[in-house]
Amino acid sequence: MPADGEIEIKRGLNGVYFDSTKASFIDGEEGKLLYRGYNIHDLAENSTFEEVVYLLIYGKLPNRKELDDITAEIQASRDIPDYIYDIIRMVKDSHPMDVLRTAISALSASDPDAEDLSPEAITRIGLRLTAQAPTIVCAHHRISEGLSPVAPDSTLNHASNFLYMLKGEIPSDDEAKTLDVDFVLHAEHGANASAFAARVAAGTQTDFYSVVVAAISTLKGPSHGGAAESVMNVAIEIGDPENAREFAEKTLGSGGRIMGFGHRVYKTADPRARHLRERSQRLGEQYGDPKWFQILSALDAEMEPYQKRGIWANVDFFAGSIYHLFGIPKNLFISIFALGRIPGWTLQALEQYQNNILIRPLLNYTGEKDLKYIPIDERE
Ligand code: ACO
Repeated sequence: MPADGEIEIKRGLNGVYFDSTKASFIDGEEGKLLYRGYNIHDLAENSTFEEVVYLLIYGKLPNRKELDDITAEIQASRDIPDYIYDIIRMVKDSHPMDVLRTAISALSASDPDAEDLSPEAITRIGLRLTAQAPTIVCAHHRISEGLSPVAPDSTLNHASNFLYMLKGEIPSDDEAKTLDVDFVLHAEHGANASAFAARVAAGTQTDFYSVVVAAISTLKGPSHGGAAESVMNVAIEIGDPENAREFAEKTLGSGGRIMGFGHRVYKTADPRARHLRERSQRLGEQYGDPKWFQILSALDAEMEPYQKRGIWANVDFFAGSIYHLFGIPKNLFISIFALGRIPGWTLQALEQYQNNILIRPLLNYTGEKDLKYIPIDERE
């Protein structure tokens, strides 16, 4: 056992490679992100979420028939059993991520393959959860608002169907495309905290539902998936682009952080942020409500001096303004991230199960040692 001084501790596992992957390549210095070798910019500009799901799970871009097949499979798998609606009603006052976690956990009860860890079963469950999770999120939202859930529409694509089930109206093609791009950008991101949690769970060879529950639990935190909601709170607090400077000075001056900035891996512009910045601006102009984009842009300008320290706007900085313009309540923002990320968790779990090793690092003990045990009646 090495002496204390010889132990090198990498807190937060910062900079540690713990395994290999073929899922995504991230160059944090260059601001480059590839899914299965394809540049995120090409995918955001030319692809669809369904195509990216195929790419991530099967490792290649689909041909027309393969895309049609996976689209049809997702469209046909959106229904959730009645008992899940009952559970949603029972826990409807909980945070949407807690409801999603609970409902996905409960879905394992009706899946005879829940304990099957074969790649075929994980792929099948991963695609089904990708399809069912939006139904859960939208049903919960509507039930908590005193409305009836809207049944999924098997003719709509993933993004359109989500907005339809949420609001009861079929969105315009442009609105659906904006959300589709958002799902594409959130689909996979290497060893981020929720994917790491997924791999730790899969490493114990637990079932895939438990893996997704671990990932959802981890995504919920404000340092990870919760940032978009925090950014929207900040934009509301700032209220006007002219107030951005005062807000930044006050927050940073008191040692605080500006939410939606900074990233463990990217030390330059997060390549995903660019697409959401463009979409936020465009949507704001289309809706005649450019204020949110203007406030965020003003805050971004105030953060420019931080760029030389490697702190740039991340994927979640502009995402919240898009959801807000869609009329989506803030407490649903993290769930939208989760809906996009399920294919990434599926791929991470597939890789972990297929080349498994228990993930079990060490902690350097700094407490007292060899204390004398004192019987309870003799303690002070
Ligand atoms: N605003 C101001 N300063 C920041 C910010 C920020 N958002 N983020 C990091 N810093 C500063 C820290 O204060 C620290 O400064 P110091 O060296 O003077 O102490 C330095 O940058 C390094 O910060 P760390 O926390 O050590 O960096 P880490 O890589 O651990 O943090 C994290 C990454 C957690 C994302 C951080 O940047 C943060 O808290 N950002 C705000 C929350 C956020 O937007 N999260 C979403 C991340 S993206 C995603 O999950 C999809």
